[in-house]
Amino acid sequence: MARLSVQLGPLVLRNPVMSGSGTYGHGREMALMCPPRHLGAWVSKTVTLEPRPGNPMPRMAETEAGLLNSIGLENRGLEYYLSEILPSMRDLDTLVVTNIGAECVEDFGTLAARLDGEAAVDALEVNLSCPNVGGGRLPFSTDARMAAAAIGRVRAATKKPLFAKLSPNVSDIASIACAVEAAGADGITAVNTLLGMKVDWRSRRPALATVQGGYSGTGIKPVALRQAWMCCKAVKIPVIGCGGIASADDALEFMVVGCRAVQVGTSNFSDPSAIGNLAQAIEHALDQACIADLEQWIGSFDNPRALAGA
Ligand SMILES: Cc1cc2nc3c(=O)[nH]c(=O)nc-3n(C[C@H](O)[C@H](O)[C@H](O)COP(=O)(O)O)c2cc1C
Repeated sequence: MARLSVQLGPLVLRNPVMSGSGTYGHGREMALMCPPRHLGAWVSKTVTLEPRPGNPMPRMAETEAGLLNSIGLENRGLEYYLSEILPSMRDLDTLVVTNIGAECVEDFGTLAARLDGEAAVDALEVNLSCPNVGGGRLPFSTDARMAAAAIGRVRAATKKPLFAKLSPNVSDIASIACAVEAAGADGITAVNTLLGMKVDWRSRRPALATVQGGYSGTGIKPVALRQAWMCCKAVKIPVIGCGGIASADDALEFMVVGCRAVQVGTSNFSDPSAIGNLAQAIEHALDQACIADLEQWIGSFDNPRALAGA
């Protein structure tokens, strides 16, 4: 049977399957749907310093090939996460990645410093899609310097493995990837949601109260795959692929172009238990293709343009 464990910077994952932030609670509450040992890691919902009520309803809408959301990072804040959530995550038989979000560089540093001493946290993932109040409310992820400033501040505050989660809503994701690598990230998650919107022309109303939202699911897979590949080519640190992944074939597409792990997001809403079977499905697909070791095979993409020196 194919060996599924992968090295992700300083971490070793028993298999490459992770949950996508915001789509699987904080992890623990989903244990009945998916035994933790079936996953490489859980990723928490974004945790912010203060509680956030999120955006007004409606803030989810189905589309032809995916989902639009404008949840607005609703969560109960760091203190609640530390006292009520993390203690129950200590004995989990998987790695725990805490995703953090903030609207200024200082808050990113404070969050990282407070989580640094928490044994239950195996790694941090920094959600760079949050608006930067000190940068005209543009998301950190849209500017290499702002992204690097946030990652640099988190790096200075923690020794834990640190992953920078990038947005696809940029023209040159490689430059952002290089900036966060230089600022000390141990890895990159590519990507978060694409900007999108939906309207009902009869009522002339938008589907989301915020009009625009984040588009995710099946429809974004080709865009996400390209962005993840651009990151893989640009940096030496590991890249985690994310965007429209629902099956073993999807996961292996991201891995053959160089991603060392994958995250499953929107697919969890249609079948929350499916993620628990994904590692086994990947193993089966590799066995059928006579690939003995996933780690050796990652990034073995046969790229004709690269071979031709283009
Ligand atoms: C309802 C919903 C909530 C999300 N919340 C977060 C979040 O809190 N933090 C974050 O970094 N990403 C969040 N995401 C983005 C996902 O983690 C993922 O990056 C994105 O949806 C693309 O993957 P997918 O197509 O598999 O869903 C959210 C996505 C959805 C659909």
